[in-house]
Amino acid sequence: MQLDLDFDGRHVVVFGGTTGINFGIAHAFARQGAHLTVASRKAENVEAAIADLRRHGGKVFGTTADVRDFDAVGAALQASARQFGPIDVLVSGAAGNFLCEAKDMSSNGFRVVVDIDLVGSFHVLRQAHAHLRKPGASVINITAPQSFVPMRYQAHACAAKAGVDQLTRVLALEWGAQGVRVNSISPGPIDGTEGFRKLMAPSESEREAARNAVPLKRFGSLDDIANLALFLASPYASYISGALIPCDGGGALESVKPVLESAGAQI
Ligand code: COA
Ligand code: NAP
Repeated sequence: MQLDLDFDGRHVVVFGGTTGINFGIAHAFARQGAHLTVASRKAENVEAAIADLRRHGGKVFGTTADVRDFDAVGAALQASARQFGPIDVLVSGAAGNFLCEAKDMSSNGFRVVVDIDLVGSFHVLRQAHAHLRKPGASVINITAPQSFVPMRYQAHACAAKAGVDQLTRVLALEWGAQGVRVNSISPGPIDGTEGFRKLMAPSESEREAARNAVPLKRFGSLDDIANLALFLASPYASYISGALIPCDGGGALESVKPVLESAGAQI
């Protein structure tokens, strides 16, 4: 089920927007009439995303850019502003991940995730600032439960996403006076995505246990996240800024349970 909100002719930029959750968000805005810019590293992902989005009507501009490359991000955003004008909605969601215990992680392995998730987010936000519609733009960072729930084998992603959350808060402070709202969405386990595949054990019994650990007893869908993005970008959210909003069926709350249990709490 998808929200019905009007984004006719609005310019929506989704960085890392060619696959998975971020592509689901791009798709939702395209279906609501927005002009879409999508960018990521791989030309084949960009081309497939453009073709799919165009099948649904709206105008689409796509380009390759690695968020680790400050100048490439700037050039991509310049080009998109030339196509569609000021940015009404900016979604920053490029990320990378793998499971690895901290004691076995190389310096480069830690750095690559921090570079993509945290430094990359800064590059996107910093380079987009000049092109944001002021007043009126809505900025949405895609964070993760790792930003506030410590997780084994996720030292890099926990550190990086915690930094992304602080970027959200600082930029909400700094950009509020210009009429720019900055918020984060923290998705729970979204079935069928690369992030889910990388972190989730493949056996059916373990999937079942993971599903049961979500208070709402189901994994999330692309529409669950896209609907929250549509809402946050809409006038209905015009007084929401600096918020970090979990969209996870309550899952991040449940993850404190083992900690409480090990401390002897009856829950
Ligand atoms: N376990 C341990 N270390 C790993 C690893 C793994 N599974 N995968 C990569 N690394 C290490 C590499 O060994 C390398 O370190 P080294 O130079 O010390 O050997 C470092 O990470 C960089 O790896 P590389 O493959 O060169 O990076 P990349 O820039 O090509 O790819 C990744 C970045 C590793 C994050 C890759 O998984 C990716 O592109 N991910 C995007 C998709 C994704 O993860 N989606 C989910 C989003 S939540
Ligand atoms: P995904 O499909 O792999 O999405 C990541 C996107 O970022 C891809 O489009 C990828 O495209 C792009 N990307 C990766 N590295 C990049 C780089 N260096 N520069 C530019 N673009 C880059 O994974 P996903 O699972 O949907 O995750 C999307 C977001 O949701 C991430 O921020 C993730 O942390 C968050 N999240 C996911 C889950 C989940 O259950 N899946 C849960 C919580 C949070 P290219 O490969 O073409 O670059």
